Amino acid sequence: MLSSVILFVCCMLMGDLVTASKPMSILVIETIPSTSHHVWTEHLVKGLLRKGHHVHIVSIHETKIKGILGQNLTYAVFDGVMQTYEQSEDYNPAEWEQYSVLYMVNFMYQWGMSGCQTVIRTKAARELLEMVKTVEFDVIVQDITITQCFYGLWEVAKGKPPVVGYVPFGAAPWLKDYVGGPSYPTVRPYPASIVKPDGLWLRAWNALYYIVDDLIRDYYYSPIVQQLTEEYLGHAIRPLHEIEKDRINIVLINTHPALEPAIPLPPNTLEIAGLNAQAIEPIAGEVVATYPEDVRVFLDGAKNGAVVISLGTNVKWKTIGLDKVETVILALSKLKQRVLWKLDIEVPFKIPDNVMIVKWMPQSLVLSHKNVRAVWTHGGLLSTQENIWK
Ligand SMILES: *[C@@H]1O[C@H](CO)[C@@H](O)[C@H](O)[C@H]1NC(C)=O
Repeated sequence: MLSSVILFVCCMLMGDLVTASKPMSILVIETIPSTSHHVWTEHLVKGLLRKGHHVHIVSIHETKIKGILGQNLTYAVFDGVMQTYEQSEDYNPAEWEQYSVLYMVNFMYQWGMSGCQTVIRTKAARELLEMVKTVEFDVIVQDITITQCFYGLWEVAKGKPPVVGYVPFGAAPWLKDYVGGPSYPTVRPYPASIVKPDGLWLRAWNALYYIVDDLIRDYYYSPIVQQLTEEYLGHAIRPLHEIEKDRINIVLINTHPALEPAIPLPPNTLEIAGLNAQAIEPIAGEVVATYPEDVRVFLDGAKNGAVVISLGTNVKWKTIGLDKVETVILALSKLKQRVLWKLDIEVPFKIPDNVMIVKWMPQSLVLSHKNVRAVWTHGGLLSTQENIWK
């Protein structure tokens, strides 16, 4: 009897060691009206599911994960948010490159506020608020790039679970408000500026961008977002800057010290760039996504190599204009290479034989095809990382 009890206890202990950790119930919240943030978040969610956790995600798009991997996933969508942005005439990221850095500083915050206003007024946001008050999660994993109006959820969440914040945007200028320390303006270029701050003049400008950013954030943006947060919760709460200092336990950031100027970060801030591009280890029975058969045949047959054209998820070809598209098609028809083009509009031109048009492509997978030699990209962060890793 005694020996069987010991055996039983041993087996239980071993079982615990083997599974290492118990599955957790995780709430993932993706509130930024940007498809690329959703795509990045899906990679994160798949990783959590592969570890056996249960995930509920509320996001700006549906989170459809097929087969066994999706078994412990439930999701909701901030209804109508992306349609609002896609139909809006003023939402044109192709124009952003013309804006000055100082204009962009303000623009980012305007965008954050409009995101907040749109998302908190959805039905899914109200349901999310009710749910966090009544259902206890083990951890909340949330995009903390800019829609700060959702920080209020952490204050009312049942059992006050720990918060893991993530920033697919890369090194947000206000990162120091989450993790402490300075902004390192002599090393790290302000995101909208890109220019490496070399020499006294550029460093002074770069420091100015960070200072202006701080001023706008503290004196203009934060008070308005505080109001929006309180409108959403239905009551007053302590200042958001206290909440962000206090409640974010771990920050995951989409940067890599090899790809941008390295800055010192505290141990609870993890740089996880390439999450969207790295090889995965599928679980038993998982349906591993691959590219469509016609795309594979097209790329396999590219004897002189293939070029991929994609402007990511935010820039739309309709804003570039049909005249430019026509010129590009003409130029492409003269290439020996095959061209796979993610073109999201119908075009009234004849498509040359060496060009294949797709509405959507699993970019990260396509880039790993051996015949792909070059990529024409808009320079978005996720695309750049995928190009580097593949
Ligand atoms: C789903 O959750 C159940 C219960 O925790 C677990 O037994 C099962 O293995 C999970 N499925 C996946 C695919 O992880």
